[in-house]
Amino acid sequence: MIVNKTDILLGLQWGDEGKGKLVDVLTPQYDIIARFQGGPNAGHTLEFEGTKHVLHTIPSGIFHSTVMNLVGNGVVIDPVIFAKEIAGLREKNVDVAGRMVISRKAHIILPTHRLLDRASEASKGSGKIGSTLKGIGPCYMDKTGRNGMRVGDLLDEQFQEKYALLKAKHLQLIQGFGVSDIYTDNELNEMEEAFMSGVNVLKGLHIVDSEHYLNQALKDGKRVLAEGAQGSLLDIDFGSYPFVTSSNTIAAGACTGLGIAPSRVGEVIGIFKAYCTRVGSGPFPTELENEIGEQMRQTGREFGSTTGRARRCGWLDLPALRYACMINGVTQLIMMKADVLSDFEQLEICTHYLFEGKKIDYLPYDIAPDKVQPIYQTVKGWHCDLTQLRKESEFPAELSSYITFIENALEVPITVVSVGPDRMQTIDRKV
Ligand code: GDP
Ligand code: IMO
Ligand code: MG
Repeated sequence: MIVNKTDILLGLQWGDEGKGKLVDVLTPQYDIIARFQGGPNAGHTLEFEGTKHVLHTIPSGIFHSTVMNLVGNGVVIDPVIFAKEIAGLREKNVDVAGRMVISRKAHIILPTHRLLDRASEASKGSGKIGSTLKGIGPCYMDKTGRNGMRVGDLLDEQFQEKYALLKAKHLQLIQGFGVSDIYTDNELNEMEEAFMSGVNVLKGLHIVDSEHYLNQALKDGKRVLAEGAQGSLLDIDFGSYPFVTSSNTIAAGACTGLGIAPSRVGEVIGIFKAYCTRVGSGPFPTELENEIGEQMRQTGREFGSTTGRARRCGWLDLPALRYACMINGVTQLIMMKADVLSDFEQLEICTHYLFEGKKIDYLPYDIAPDKVQPIYQTVKGWHCDLTQLRKESEFPAELSSYITFIENALEVPITVVSVGPDRMQTIDRKV
């Protein structure tokens, strides 16, 4: 019997690579789009017909009536944000309920998880992670600590008791951080009210045993695309720890986050920006804290889709990308936002790091500024507008060279190049 494989699309840098845009573009080739980890810390932007849409927990296939969208067991759901997202999509006449199924095993973000996130960050002072404060870390902590609440629990008669117990535990934990003014009782009451109404919305949706749903779909010949959130350098195991998120953002996370066996994985599509960005704290070897970085930020509109924070910008980092390709087993690459580099006559590409006096081409244990210094190769920029391009044959020679340089360094083909935020600004190199 032939069973279909699941393709995975995931970010190779520190998130915000353009996953939402590309999943939307690729959706017509699939039957199911499945989110496998993360939660409302993600912000995935899609643009078409002159309108911009930002999704947080809902998979990026939702605008197509031809596919089902699945929220996997590896995702953490905040019912408040989820209900808001659904209401926003309904206003746009998107039939969310009819196009989405949710895993019974996905964990729930409680209001007190968000408070715990705040307390934890406040207690760290200048060493804070720069979390989105959506309660992601505390929720995954309860998952691995075996205390969490899952979607399935919302349907349980004991739900209120379980909720009250966990809340009481969280409030005690918050005291332990020793930071004051984390919340007021009034605020918590309001948060809980919104939570309970979000829970009611969630209970009305199509809740399934998603591992069975997906494996059956694969047997039935359905085509599945797993959509990642965040990026490989934010992975809990392989990212720039502790400045990471709390889930496995890498390809292996799609197996645990969906219940799909490794032997059922097909293409691993790694997506990266033609440069680098990072939002929040943590090391960033190629960061440009100067006017070049500022120009990238303005041209690329590098402000967070979830928090609005300015994203830190820098040159492309090949040692980091090589590492991400290795960990994920990337089979094809997609390069985003090439148009943003059009301002520059010359571009720098970080090909190696200087580490303990030696030139290396891999990512060492610690990439703090006192440990690694980037070594750059200067290349000529294309220095012309790319946003109107629709075919590879129209590429300026310098862009083709930039692509070849990266392909040679990473030994993986770049199959798609994106030259603007709109669906139409996507150039397929396979045809
Ligand atoms: P995601 O989290 O990976 O889905 O990415 P985000 O949506 O957070 O951030 C990517 C941003 O870049 C969004 O504002 C997109 O609209 C925009 N974008 C995506 N692709 C391109 C591109 O090729 N060029 C430009 N200029 N913007 C792009
Ligand atoms: P998408 O899916 C970029 C960053 C935060 C912070 C760290 C931990 O849109 O690419 P968390 O809220 O998880 O505790 O934050 O991870 N971060 C992201 N950065 N894109 C994201 O998602 C991110 N999700 C979390 O800024 O540094
Ligand atoms: Mg984003």
